[in-house]
Amino acid sequence: MTVPEPHATGNSHALRDTAAAMIAGDKGLLAIDESNATCNKRFAPLAIPQTVEARRTYREWILTTPGLADAISGVILYDETIRQQKGDGTPFVRAIIDAGMIAGIKVDIGAKEMAAHPGERITEGLDGLRDRLAEYARMGARFAKWRAVLALTDVVPSRGCIEANAHALARYSALCQEALLVPVVEMEVLMNGPHGLDKCRAVTEHALHALFDQLVMQRVVLEGILLKPNMVLPGLGCAVQSGVDEVADATVHCLLRTVPAAVPGVVFLSGGQASELASKRLNAMNGRFKARLPWALSFSFARAIQEPALAIWRGEPANVLRAQKALLHRARCNQAARRGTYSPLVETASLQG
Ligand code: 13P
Repeated sequence: MTVPEPHATGNSHALRDTAAAMIAGDKGLLAIDESNATCNKRFAPLAIPQTVEARRTYREWILTTPGLADAISGVILYDETIRQQKGDGTPFVRAIIDAGMIAGIKVDIGAKEMAAHPGERITEGLDGLRDRLAEYARMGARFAKWRAVLALTDVVPSRGCIEANAHALARYSALCQEALLVPVVEMEVLMNGPHGLDKCRAVTEHALHALFDQLVMQRVVLEGILLKPNMVLPGLGCAVQSGVDEVADATVHCLLRTVPAAVPGVVFLSGGQASELASKRLNAMNGRFKARLPWALSFSFARAIQEPALAIWRGEPANVLRAQKALLHRARCNQAARRGTYSPLVETASLQG
């Protein structure tokens, strides 16, 4: 047997530099990489038109929020979005770079029902990925994202589903590194269900072990990835909703048992948590453990940053300034959570500031 060795040694400095820039200081990532279907789903209850132009307008005001780059290091785009421009013709990628942020791109094509695995999904998108990554890199992207999802019930996730998704994530990661794009490796244990905190911890731990096993097997340079996991949480239907510190302890202990110290950063997804709760939980992790951790703990939120702002905007030009303020507010709150200095005071102060 030959020992797997990271293959991208010649490229690893560039990858490390990009990963380091993505988690530098107290900034985090902003995900605006919803597929058209998901973006339309978010627009529908607010009666926002589900059109290309409405999605473009939405992303434009998000990206041009004054001060966004003070709290956000990188922005994840979707295929439609990376090809779009601001009203004045400036490509979105150029606007991101000019603002001092890094552009990234979601490259999976979605989680599809998995054959022979009822209730489970496998993320697709490996076919033709090498060419797509090369095109995105030419367009100015420096990192990519791929999301695998694991449902949690009494009978799932199955070993087959965990292994297949971990394998796909590892193959995606190797292709990204070949193209000099930092892979953001997302493995999400979903929050739906009545399960408790311990069950989520056990399943997340198992899934992350399988993931890193595959990453090593596929010769991925661990120093040149970011991990995007779920926080360890009780299910939404669980009668016992654990406290913030309990969630912080369970999440950090799970990561310490699974994520190699070579990985530079962990950027959490928000997964449908209320915005303030996501900030509180990230803050508790950094406040309690930051000095003792080998990797940075940061954020790569979509809903937990966008939701309050989207609810203000509602597709109305007259609401854009207020919506931008709300977006920046959530970005700043999460920036404080990265430092471990988020508090009710920050929650009110940064809204006024
Ligand atoms: P949420 O923060 O809404 O869970 O989205 C995470 C994500 O994968 C977006 O890139």
